[in-house]
Amino acid sequence: MKGYSSPAFLSLFLLLLLSSLSSVVALLRAPPRLPSLYAEKLIRQLNLFPDEPVNIAANAGRFLDAPRLVERRFKFPNLVGSTDASVRELGHHAGYYQIPRSHAARMFYFFFESRHSTQDPVVIWLTGGPGCSSEMALFYENGPFTIANNLSLVWNEYGWDKVSNILYVDQPIGTGFSFSSDRRDIRHNEKGVSDDLFDFLQAFFKEHPHLAKNDFYITGESYAGHYIPALAARVHQGNKAKEGIHVNLKGFAIGNGLTDPAIQYGAYADYAMDMGIITQTEHDRINKALPLCESAVKLCGTDGTISCMAAYFVCNTIFSAIIARAGDVNYYDIRKKCEGNLCYDFSNLEKFLNQQPVRDALGVGDVQFVSCSSTVYQAMLMDWMRNLEVGIPALLEDGVKLLVYAGEYDLICNWLGNSRWVHAMEWSGQKEFIAASEVPFEVDGSEAGVLTSHGPLSFLKVHDAGHMVPMDQPKASLEMLKRWMHSSLSRQAVDPEALVSSM
Ligand SMILES: *[C@@H]1O[C@H](CO)[C@@H](O)[C@H](O)[C@H]1NC(C)=O
Repeated sequence: MKGYSSPAFLSLFLLLLLSSLSSVVALLRAPPRLPSLYAEKLIRQLNLFPDEPVNIAANAGRFLDAPRLVERRFKFPNLVGSTDASVRELGHHAGYYQIPRSHAARMFYFFFESRHSTQDPVVIWLTGGPGCSSEMALFYENGPFTIANNLSLVWNEYGWDKVSNILYVDQPIGTGFSFSSDRRDIRHNEKGVSDDLFDFLQAFFKEHPHLAKNDFYITGESYAGHYIPALAARVHQGNKAKEGIHVNLKGFAIGNGLTDPAIQYGAYADYAMDMGIITQTEHDRINKALPLCESAVKLCGTDGTISCMAAYFVCNTIFSAIIARAGDVNYYDIRKKCEGNLCYDFSNLEKFLNQQPVRDALGVGDVQFVSCSSTVYQAMLMDWMRNLEVGIPALLEDGVKLLVYAGEYDLICNWLGNSRWVHAMEWSGQKEFIAASEVPFEVDGSEAGVLTSHGPLSFLKVHDAGHMVPMDQPKASLEMLKRWMHSSLSRQAVDPEALVSSM
């Protein structure tokens, strides 16, 4: 088999791959898109219009002699119903962290203390893209507040800060308010991403030593299906090597993520057909490209380079072909249509964060807010098709919990593909996990999803939700987080008083 990994064989294979790409394109009658067009489309569909494609600020030098981590307590102006609350009572912080493994990069983050107790777990949230700001989730999914149409902030009854001390980080560098004055700081892979986040966590726990002993969880969505397992492995490795402060990692949760591309690209046509957005004939024709996609992803593996780019182009032809058939369906939520280019309207995010009083409160100086960075998206293309499932079994064996959850109406990171890779994953509890029966995930006496779990592994299919589960099912998602962190998802959180009265 030695010959098969030789450079000559590799080039031959790539040549074949690329020449068959044109036949796949002809077969599927869908033009391949340039990555820049994917990135542009992603951003416009959300009604976002960042002024710059990436946050590379020439005038960022003045930050460089500031201390490594600069954090301030703040209070958002226009926070409805909190005129009396003091900045100290709110426990809201915004900060910049100077990244050590960089030339001149600073990472922006929000830290919201739990509304319930300082003892609550520390949770970090990572939005995907790649290249979209975690503030998207903060204001539209699971943060302490949502943005009203008049640009006031209204408290979110189901914010995840009700059960955790939660961090929202703008990353990779160049995303959101995170910036550098040096283009070389743009990240291209999970090593860059996870080292930066690991370094940040070290600095954060040094700044807040009383939180370091709390339980710690990594969460996020979409492309964070790559970031989350990479960071979990990085933290675990750091703990084992006694590198810096011990981070009390208890688990990681991936929401509608992209983690195991070979399996997930194989599920696209099946999901689309099951949901009635393509016919059997279309399904069969589209899946003719699948063997080529699968060989390309296999060649890409966990650390391929050009082969991973080739896989990106080949495999995304499958997704494009489905979209071409499905018309104006919103691929984050197939129950919805996209009107023109617009699938969601997150434009208030930019309007809100570009207000001068808000910027002053956050201490961002004249740094731009890049809601989604097309440059960061393209810089991560080589990383896209890499398999991030491979590092997970070792974490499970060491008792670190994993929850994979997925809103049932999302196409792009659909539940079927996620369920398949979770079931296919080889670990000591695989047999029992596969044999475990599905149980209802009940919230307020009605079924909010269906759950499969064994030991540290849980898979939850969430009803009536698309790609952004906490936006579509805020109450169920808060329940999910709470039960998963504290005990078991399958058990209702037991209210001791109710138990006593029923006895
Ligand atoms: C803005 O909208 C919120 C929520 O609808 C409302 O509570 C608040 O009073 C409004 N503020 C102003 C200044 O109109």
